[in-house]
Amino acid sequence: MCGIFAYLNFCVPCQRQKVYEILLRGLERLEYRGYDSAGIAVDYPEEGVHIVRKQGKVKMLRGIVFDIEKAECSSIVNTHVGIAHTRWATHGEPSERNSHPQSSGEDNSFMVVHNGIITNFKDIKQFLEKENYTFTSDTDTEVIPKLAHYIYHHSEEGKTLSFTEVVERVISQLEGAFALVFKSTVFPKQIVAVKRGSPLLVGIKSERDISMDKVNISYRQKENSGDRAFNIAGQSAEYFFASDASALIEHTDRVIYLEDDDVTSIVDGSLRINRLKEHAKTDETTSRQITTLRLQLQQIMKGNYSTFMEKEIHEQPESVMNTMRGRIDFTSDMVRLGGLQSHANAIKRCRRIIVIASGTSYNSGVATRQLLEELSDVPVVIELGSDFLDRRCPVFRDDVCIFISQSGETADTLNALRYCKSRGALLLGITNTVGSAISRETDCGIHINAGPEIGVASTKAYTSQIVSMVMLSVMIGSDSISKQKRCADIIQGLKELPELIRKVLKKNDEILALAKELYEEKSLLLMGRGYNYATCLEGALKVKEVSYMHSEGILSGELKHGPLALVDENMPCVIVVVKDNTYSKCHNALQQVKARQGRPITICEEGDTEVQDMSFRSFSLPSTVDCLMNILAVIPLQLLSFHLATLKGLDVDCPRNLAKSVTTE
Ligand code: F6R
Repeated sequence: MCGIFAYLNFCVPCQRQKVYEILLRGLERLEYRGYDSAGIAVDYPEEGVHIVRKQGKVKMLRGIVFDIEKAECSSIVNTHVGIAHTRWATHGEPSERNSHPQSSGEDNSFMVVHNGIITNFKDIKQFLEKENYTFTSDTDTEVIPKLAHYIYHHSEEGKTLSFTEVVERVISQLEGAFALVFKSTVFPKQIVAVKRGSPLLVGIKSERDISMDKVNISYRQKENSGDRAFNIAGQSAEYFFASDASALIEHTDRVIYLEDDDVTSIVDGSLRINRLKEHAKTDETTSRQITTLRLQLQQIMKGNYSTFMEKEIHEQPESVMNTMRGRIDFTSDMVRLGGLQSHANAIKRCRRIIVIASGTSYNSGVATRQLLEELSDVPVVIELGSDFLDRRCPVFRDDVCIFISQSGETADTLNALRYCKSRGALLLGITNTVGSAISRETDCGIHINAGPEIGVASTKAYTSQIVSMVMLSVMIGSDSISKQKRCADIIQGLKELPELIRKVLKKNDEILALAKELYEEKSLLLMGRGYNYATCLEGALKVKEVSYMHSEGILSGELKHGPLALVDENMPCVIVVVKDNTYSKCHNALQQVKARQGRPITICEEGDTEVQDMSFRSFSLPSTVDCLMNILAVIPLQLLSFHLATLKGLDVDCPRNLAKSVTTE
């Protein structure tokens, strides 16, 4: 959606130039979350505050910040608050005036950066307009600083309120999802942040060892301002706020994952977390642990690759290995999933499994449904988060609901999770983001351990999601004697998987040659069935999102029911024909395409000369167990989409109109 970054140095002398650099670097790390405009607000000696905003990517902002700031760059600031934002437009077109920080008005009493959506902004705007506030943007966000201004300057007790109390009053009027960081000229050298439904972390850099510390929560009634200070970092400290950990890791590995409605403030260098009594849940913990990030800086750098997408495609031998690490005993053919331990029996006894996800994560559910059904012997239903909620499907206490999400923050999936929770089902999360909303709100789960995925188009997360679902299926099936041979074969396949992926990646040049033949085409069809229907859905999704070429994933069984009409001598068709139980039917599809003078490009198994001879172009894959062939088969398609986009001169890491984490419905 959008990326938020903020930096406060308390009693840590710092050149102004360094403050700018920290803010801009933070935004660059978060740019994959949105990149249609960016902005920062920093303290400025004469004007009090300086807001710089620019349409376009962070590098555009970087350019104008340094043009403007040359004179002031070397002066030293001991305590300073800066907030920054990179945007993916929801309300209002990408433009400078719709960029963040949004401000309360010319005096900049209150400024805010926002990730999420305010659903009742029209009502608040109407109210404020009656109070003579003039709006200068089309955003939902602008109501937030203006409401803060109204509360502080015009309400009865306004000027006696602390910064935290102003923010508490603002958020009690807001509906929707948000992570917000506030800066104020009325409360200089202070910062207040809050989240509800969108992610936000605090990073703390201190000379004191704080790794075992907790921050106790202060509870108070709305009208009572007696909050408890908790000085976590001593006299001098640096604090960072960010939408995700990748922007923090170069500064500190000590972080707090904030919970919904935690109002976090830094005043006089002390960090406080407040919650209003009305937001307290009966069973909630009364402190927030400082945790240590396991992320390494090099994991989020591009290394020898020119784009994150390319790097992440080529990382897959290691990322699938990391997904399996410590979970499979290859000598006894056992899968042990620590995150499911206390619920394993309930999962094995359930009456139905519902898999809920969006986009690529949904495709990983489609890819593994057949195996999960086979090994669990219960019906498995696959649902798109948005559609599932629109239909408000019946969910029962003896259902297991599995939520697959790379980010762990996707609103459609998260809202479906909350709906299933209210129906009493057992909730299992499969995510790539420790501390994400989905991993926190599920009863149990599997962390896919694929490492940070920065490219907007999901690649390595997809294959690790499949591996996680395969391990889950084996864990469920291995209690049954009749399924043990099958489970052992799959485990053997998993053992060989990283090496087989390496072999497929070596075909990169062949795929590039194909891309050169195809990149000027208007459309591309992909056909497959069984385990490889998902491969075609996912291949088509990758092609459209990064190369903007129309592409459709088709179940080959449906070909004769309509899509065959699209096939002629000009239409490139990718057909996955591997030697599983659908082989002869896929062969049939290949013949039908041939019969219509189509140009079949096949993905088949090594040594299948019959298929190769019938193909216009053919890519052969090493053979493995049927349910893992779809991991090997998707890799040429990931590479193909990458090369198509690169040949067209497109930015694969930041496809137009898309963002990595979609935290609004
Ligand atoms: C496509 C892609 C999206 C995401 C979808 C769900 O490459 O990345 O389709 O898969 O937005 O996101 P997560 O997995 O974070 O829930």
